[in-house]
Amino acid sequence: MNNFTYYTPTRVIFGKGTEAQVGELVKAQNCTKVLLHYGSGSVKRSGLLDRIKASLEEAGIDYIELGGVVPNPRLSLVYEGIELAKEEGVDFILAVGGGSVIDSSKAIAYGIANEGDVWDFYAHTRKPEASAPVGVVLTIAAAGSEMSDSSVITNENGWKKCGCNSDLCRVKFAIMDPELTMTLPDYQTACGCTDIIMHTLERYFTTKGTMELTDGIAGALIRTVMKNARVLRDDPENYDARAEVMWASSLSHNGLTGCGNGGNDFATHKLEHELSGMYDVAHGAGLAALWGSWARYVMDNCLDRFVKLAVDVLDVKHTGDDKQTALLGVEKMEAFFREIGMPTSVSELGIDLTALEILKLAEKCAAANGGSVGAAKVLGEEDFVRIYEMAR
Ligand code: NZQ
Ligand code: ZN
Repeated sequence: MNNFTYYTPTRVIFGKGTEAQVGELVKAQNCTKVLLHYGSGSVKRSGLLDRIKASLEEAGIDYIELGGVVPNPRLSLVYEGIELAKEEGVDFILAVGGGSVIDSSKAIAYGIANEGDVWDFYAHTRKPEASAPVGVVLTIAAAGSEMSDSSVITNENGWKKCGCNSDLCRVKFAIMDPELTMTLPDYQTACGCTDIIMHTLERYFTTKGTMELTDGIAGALIRTVMKNARVLRDDPENYDARAEVMWASSLSHNGLTGCGNGGNDFATHKLEHELSGMYDVAHGAGLAALWGSWARYVMDNCLDRFVKLAVDVLDVKHTGDDKQTALLGVEKMEAFFREIGMPTSVSELGIDLTALEILKLAEKCAAANGGSVGAAKVLGEEDFVRIYEMAR
């Protein structure tokens, strides 16, 4: 087992009606002015935003608001948020939404607390030295940003989608009421379930040794999400299924499923970020479209882990041949993606990739990641081209 650090400073408030506590939770942060940040309308339509405002007002919290975050959140709105927050003396950001709103909030929080251009942190030319505090009311179980150290922003100038990782941006509190996710379109629920599974899979494929307990947690997490994604496909208002998936979203990406694994792969994520950066697809769907191709491409380098996934997690019967068994596991995972309405190729996303576009995607992926990505197998630009070609 490898040495590891596990750091999760976020207070989680989980369950029905917990959003009513938001005013008191913000008040406990001793801030003077809050930026209430949200997306493109779902929180208004559901009435959640009004309830959040009422709770803030009841607690005597002074706030301003900035909506309009879109999926694959844009740098231009981050800049607008930073300017507004500085003008208004904001010292706490409250994100009401999903990964996109949380990531935009984290970027604004970096922008308030550091001098210079916030994009530097995403372009990896500088590291943030501080962050303003952020709190979350989560409305979709997916990205895990409510407990992760990550924020992913898209720069419209060149459509570069880049992440910044730092413990500085771990949120102070995350309110998770599974009922809030019942208004999600089925497609977004499925995208979210895919992303959650992928956050665990990205940590599962390692050549550096593992930890039995971590493997057990990873297996339980993947099986739980697969089971409850199927429940939600047929019964979207099933509270218990919503709750299982919501908690899985946080545990999948707060570091727990990587303890002792000695390496994060995240190649599928990096390849997907280029896809959603350039074509604005939903992140979870982009992952489903690419994963099988990545898996087949790297499999020989990490065969024991693919066999373990197939047999221990996906209940594939070992055929006596490791490679065949591993491939059956990949097929089973892809069959699951299709079952919940996810694509397993890029063309199913409505994108007809040309050879030139593939070269561009691969070039951008290499540029954004210092030339190579991956732990199960270290991949470079030529490998990216091959995987995008396989995923077409
Ligand atoms: O903008 P609104 O109107 O709220 O609509 C959103 C959006 O269209 C809608 N939605 C959210 N909650 C809803 C709802 N609709 C109805 N009812 C609700 N309760 O869902 C759509 C997707 O929202 P978004 O926030 O984009 O989803 P998600 O949480 O999947 O976040 C995706 C973003 O997170 C990044 C992704 O790359 C992508 O940009 N990621 C962030 C990570 C992190 N910070 O740790 C890790 C991930 O791997 C990922 O890269
Ligand atoms: Zn993800």
